[in-house]
Amino acid sequence: MRDGKSRNRKRRVAFLETVAVNHIKTTSLITMLLKLIVFGLLTQVSGLVAADSPEPLAPLPDVAMPGTAKVKLGQYLFFDKRLSGDADRACADCHIPEQGWAFPEQMSIGYPGTLHYRNAKTVMNVRFAEYFYWDARLDGGNDLSTQARDSMTDAHFMSADGRIMAQRLKQIPEYVALFKEAYNGEPYFGLIIKALGDFEKTLISKNVPFDNFLEGDASALSSEAKEGLALFQGKAGCIHCHDGMMLSDGEVHATGVPVNPDLFLTERYTTLRSQQMFLGTPNYWNLRQDPGFFAVEKNTRYFGTFLTPSLREVSKTAPYMHNGILPTLASVVDFYDRGGEQAKNKDPRIKPLGLTAAEKAALVEFLKSLSGDDLGIKTASFAEEKMPKYQLKKWVGEGN
Ligand code: HEC
Ligand code: HEC
Repeated sequence: MRDGKSRNRKRRVAFLETVAVNHIKTTSLITMLLKLIVFGLLTQVSGLVAADSPEPLAPLPDVAMPGTAKVKLGQYLFFDKRLSGDADRACADCHIPEQGWAFPEQMSIGYPGTLHYRNAKTVMNVRFAEYFYWDARLDGGNDLSTQARDSMTDAHFMSADGRIMAQRLKQIPEYVALFKEAYNGEPYFGLIIKALGDFEKTLISKNVPFDNFLEGDASALSSEAKEGLALFQGKAGCIHCHDGMMLSDGEVHATGVPVNPDLFLTERYTTLRSQQMFLGTPNYWNLRQDPGFFAVEKNTRYFGTFLTPSLREVSKTAPYMHNGILPTLASVVDFYDRGGEQAKNKDPRIKPLGLTAAEKAALVEFLKSLSGDDLGIKTASFAEEKMPKYQLKKWVGEGN
């Protein structure tokens, strides 16, 4: 994110992929070759590619899925509360399938006894994310295991000791069998987090109207949504930050999102302070707002900046922003239209837009077109009574 060179390289790759995905089917090979040559010339004269020229919006690619045993195992684990220290918090408690795989309140619950100070992000399409978390503190999607390890061991999420979790799972015959089938191994922490990551790899939006539109189905978007798309890329300027396949530039910005007063509820504030202490944030005991990416880079020019979130599935993941302060998509568009609130380090592109009521409605319609079909995974199917049970051996009276 901070390295212009690698970003340009990524851009180039993404451009080529988009050319491939969008056009091979619909235009002739010659047109494609011409585009490649023109693009090649442009990048040769590198000054011509403006530093913040957005990546084209693109549909999600078709990608290989892990084997069924791996996915089945990971899915059980995702819903299993026994993966947390107190055996009462599963990933799915905060990433609820029926709530867009996010949590429907402004800020998330936390490990029992704590409350979190950020909105829970969706786990849909995470395999394509460049960075994780609102403050971009972890590298992204091709290392989902590391992220799962972080979620499991974080004291404010699941507070799990991987060694204990492995011992728990070894007492559950169905799990032992699944680990063998999926990875030819026994339950241990490395495989637990691998299975969680393999399951997350399957959480990809499907049949997304906007993607169908990009792939050539002009009727996939209503005319209002098409108008919204034009505004998104034009007058409203959203594309400056929400670009590419994920509608995120993988960069951090301050947008002037107001502080959520609930941050100062005892438990949330304690979580803010303790996590910022773990991250080594200077002066963490004096924080009066979420410092965002400042905690990572420790440079005041990043104070209050947050990673541009993907907008995929966004209509299902209300409320919005790192602290959930905006309740609806309409309120997000209003927020941008008035140019956000005052804030240190605010990105100059967040400024009053002068949108009409019809234009605002069109933008919301476009945002809605970024959500796909329900994946058909129901929380009720993984209720406690349906999960595989401990089956301890009856050693009593047997001696050694
Ligand atoms: C107690 C609630 C809670 C639990 C349990 C929880 N999460 Fe999260 N998750 C969150 C919150 C809140 C965030 C955003 C935190 C932040 O940005 O600092 C998050 C962020 C994430 C992200 C980053 C998404 C992105 O695009 O940046 C992933 C991936 C994720 N969680 C996966 C998991 C997995 C896998 C588990 C189980 C091992 C899990 N979570 C358990 C609340 C939870
Ligand atoms: C300068 C970069 C930038 C521009 C321009 C921008 N955004 Fe954002 N957007 C962000 C960042 C950063 C966040 C997260 C802010 C936060 O949580 O503090 C965000 C958050 C959002 C969210 C909330 C997503 C969620 O999951 O909570 C939506 C929706 C959104 N933007 C839509 C838009 C629209 C529509 C436009 C154009 C009117 C736009 N953005 C323009 C950077 C930008």
